[in-house]
Amino acid sequence: MKKITVNTSRVYEVFIGGRLLSHAGELLAAAVPVQKALVVSDDIVYPLYGKKLESSLSAAGFSCRNFVFPNGEAHKRLSVIEEILEYLAKEHFCRSDVVVALGGGVCGDMAGFAAAIFCRGIRYIQVPTTLLAAVDSSVGGKTAVDLSCGKNLCGAFHQPALVLCDTDTLSTLAPQNTADGLAEMLKYGVICDADLFEKVKNYKNEDMEALIARCVEIKRDVVAEDEFDRGTRQLLNLGHTVGHAIEAASGFKITHGQGVAAGMAIVARGAEALGLCTPGTAKQIEDALDACGLPQNCDFDADTLATLTLSDKKADGDFIHLIIPRRIGKCEIVRTKQDDVRRLIARGL
Ligand SMILES: NC(=O)c1ccc[n+]([C@@H]2O[C@H](COP(=O)([O-])OP(=O)(O)OC[C@H]3O[C@@H](n4cnc5c(N)ncnc54)[C@H](O)[C@@H]3O)[C@@H](O)[C@H]2O)c1
Ligand SMILES: [Zn+2]
Repeated sequence: MKKITVNTSRVYEVFIGGRLLSHAGELLAAAVPVQKALVVSDDIVYPLYGKKLESSLSAAGFSCRNFVFPNGEAHKRLSVIEEILEYLAKEHFCRSDVVVALGGGVCGDMAGFAAAIFCRGIRYIQVPTTLLAAVDSSVGGKTAVDLSCGKNLCGAFHQPALVLCDTDTLSTLAPQNTADGLAEMLKYGVICDADLFEKVKNYKNEDMEALIARCVEIKRDVVAEDEFDRGTRQLLNLGHTVGHAIEAASGFKITHGQGVAAGMAIVARGAEALGLCTPGTAKQIEDALDACGLPQNCDFDADTLATLTLSDKKADGDFIHLIIPRRIGKCEIVRTKQDDVRRLIARGL
């Protein structure tokens, strides 16, 4: 088991290892008052792991309730948040109680957002069950839901009180969901760790627990430096500006990880064509994505994607903060005019 401490406005531990669900009760009791706990989960994850988690929490003295919603990005909406809030109120939750997010990034983002606004903020913990949530969304305190105009447009910064990543839960993931997580892991490699990039590419022969921990360490360092996303944290958006546009253009049929994968490849090819990055970088990224079963392009045109990037949160008037890979292991934030974004995407496609 690995333990990583995150130093933000709230200091918390991330535990990564096998059989952690069975120890969730004692670990949670050490982090928050033992009172009521609402397990928020989706209709695929709860039947798999809900009871195991709840029995561990109950054994440690927590009084458990659960709220289960239909799985998928389409349900990351304010309407579901309202239902969670009403349920918390009906069950007389108060500020000393806790919300437990059991699931992937959708569940974590929603449970976290509900916790951020219920009674002006109650504690929550993350129990990520997808690789993507383990390496990315469960750490760092970004919580949100989607609006019709774009992804994650309504949200709050709210750090969890604890993150418990039971790596055993990853064994039931569909191959495509595993690939989604690998996309974010490759992203960390491209941003700042060429060695990690190589290891993720060969993930089948690597120790997954160690790779997850390395990704969490990178995220921890970035978040500790820029918790509220005013500067260096934007580096983590490599592939995301274009990726979010791809997700939106597909009506969210293309998953977040696949969008990010294609977005990284498009930006790398575009940057290379415009002489902004070391020749050969785009090919290295394409090969790694291929090895991880991830897409390297999409069927949408540059105008569609460029228009959609304007509703991304990274937009700043007519400028967009694009993350440009210079080489594997080194990226920079470049304030780019909307027209130039379109040109770069066109070359990258
Ligand atoms: N807050 C952040 O910092 C942050 C960072 C990255 C991504 N995100 C968000 O995360 C979301 C994507 O997360 P995701 O890819 O985990 O999606 P997800 O939560 O929708 O999970 C993907 C699918 O896997 C299923 N699933 C989850 N765990 C499982 C398990 N152990 N076994 C079998 N099936 C399982 C889910 O039911 C779902 O159908 C997006 O909404 C994205 O915006 C947030
Ligand atoms: Zn992401």
